[in-house]
This record gives sequence, structure tokens and C-alpha cells, in this order.
Amino acid sequence: MKADLDRAQLVATAIAASRHAYVPYSRFPVGAALLAGEGRVYGGCNVENAAFPSTICAERTALVKAVSEGELDFVAIAVVTRSGGAPCGSCRQMLYEFSPGMRVLVATLEGEICYEVALQELLPRGFGPTELDG
Ligand code: THU
Repeated sequence: MKADLDRAQLVATAIAASRHAYVPYSRFPVGAALLAGEGRVYGGCNVENAAFPSTICAERTALVKAVSEGELDFVAIAVVTRSGGAPCGSCRQMLYEFSPGMRVLVATLEGEICYEVALQELLPRGFGPTELDG
């Protein structure tokens, strides 16, 4: 059974995660909260590095936490930034691997939901695991 989506709660968890963002270079904290199919929520923040490309985004932090706990199926992710920015391409791709239909809630650090879309709308005709079968 798919977990119920409590949007306000998911955004609140993403905001809490953003407070741990390690962002000495960009000063741009991002928080994410990923709702797995069985109902557990995984928070994540961006973690930057002096070797800039080694930085990991908040969404992928949450995703790798979840997958490393055995989760493979997701209902939704909330992403919070001060500007209401959308997930980057790498995060879209990583999330698409598991649940192309998951809901993506884009919100501000104040908790305002800017919009909500299905991941496959953010990554149309995405490349997923089944492509490797052809
Ligand atoms: N960032 C994320 O955490 N998620 C995204 O989807 C876009 C960008 C982070 C990476 C970097 O720490 C900061 O935002 C500025 O790019």
C-alpha cells in the first residue's frame, strides 16, 4: 500500500533538513524530504566540498539514505530553497530510476508550496532501467 501524502508535514521535514545544509561556498541551503512507499520519510540537505564538483545535492542525499535502508519505491519528495528552485538534472535522473511517477513538491524555506508536478513532467522521456532491456 502506498503511504498517504501529508504535504505540509513533508515540507516541514524538508525545512528541518535544510538547517543542516553544509554550504560554506554557495550559502544556498537546500532541504529535501523523501516519502517512501511504506511511509517512512528520509530527510536530506546539500553537503558541499572544497573540491566543488564533489558536492551532493539535498535530493540525492535523501535518496541515497533511503536506498541504503532498502527503500526502492517512492511516493513524493519535497524540496525547499529560498528561491523555490526546482531539482537539478542529476537529481531528476537519480530519482527517475526508482519512481518516475512520484510527486515533486517545490517549496520555499518559509514553507510555501510553489508548485507540485509528477517527476516525469520534470524529466519527459527519461532514461530508466527498462531502456537497458531493449
Ligand atoms: N543544490 C541542491 O541541493 N539541489 C538541487 O537540485 C540544486 C542545487 C545545491 C547544490 C549546491 O550546494 C547549491 O545548491 C548551489 O548550487
